[in-house]
Amino acid sequence: MSINSETSLYCLVGNPVSKSLSPDIHNKVFELEDINSIYMTFNIKSEELKSFMSSIKTLNIKGVNVTIPHKIDIIKYLDEVDEYAAKLNAVNTIKNENGKLKGYNTDGLGFIKALKDRNIELKEKKCLVIGAGGASRAICHILASNKIKQLTIANRTKEKAVKLKEELKVFYKDIIIKTYDYNSAEIYTENNDIYINTTNVGMYPNEEQSPIEVEKIKNKAVFYDVVYKPLQTKFLKDAKLNKHETIQGIEMLLNQALESQRIWNDVELEAKEYEALKKEIIKRAK
Ligand code: ATR
Repeated sequence: MSINSETSLYCLVGNPVSKSLSPDIHNKVFELEDINSIYMTFNIKSEELKSFMSSIKTLNIKGVNVTIPHKIDIIKYLDEVDEYAAKLNAVNTIKNENGKLKGYNTDGLGFIKALKDRNIELKEKKCLVIGAGGASRAICHILASNKIKQLTIANRTKEKAVKLKEELKVFYKDIIIKTYDYNSAEIYTENNDIYINTTNVGMYPNEEQSPIEVEKIKNKAVFYDVVYKPLQTKFLKDAKLNKHETIQGIEMLLNQALESQRIWNDVELEAKEYEALKKEIIKRAK
């Protein structure tokens, strides 16, 4: 790749950003799609956010990804926010259109893409989401907006699950929403169609842990882990052993980045390119 006077700049803003795989993903996409752009990371403290935002316009940075801790605070500096990001009150993608900054959130779309790719229908389904943090919120909103029948949120701190339920109820009135303590016995008797881990239980270096006892679930279901290090978590290994369908967190990671690329550059990777990207990122994630 040659960098020249025509090269456009994209970046990730957050604190910390040093371990992020976003530069690896986006720079590979630029290479695959022959887009003359580079993607960098900027470690920005909260008190520096305002001046960073004005530099997006000054430097004509074409697109920005936003991560912890700026996803909410950044909204006040945007000219426009898309409907889903406004509902979530969290932005992870900004597009600079001739100096006008519009905010989006691709976390939910990135999550749902792997289900859609497998033709897994969401309408009328029962879903269990383990965890009630930032990732869980984006996932619960997108599941609810896809008209599932029932959503159960199980969290270590039950009050946080209850708070998330109250927030969801404002937007999605027709869905049954239940909340449990995350080791509650009811988790195993509800026969959910999809089980999603959004906590970091099972993440490297605690690879021997699983957020629930998968072998106790007797109905056939889909198991989806947001954790991508290791690629195959204990949660997913146990699900596979029990003949359930499984989806790895790396797919959500890649797809939320590709949704940003769709917003910025109308990028649509072919299957062969997607596989090349996935292989490369798996190598770097290890
Ligand atoms: P993220 O943005 O990745 O979702 P987060 O907002 O910090 O991160 O949320 C982390 C989630 O993982 C929370 O639901 C947290 O549970 P608490 O609300 O009780 O803190 C959950 N979590 C983290 N470590 C956990 C553990 N060891 N066991 C169970 N749940 C855990």
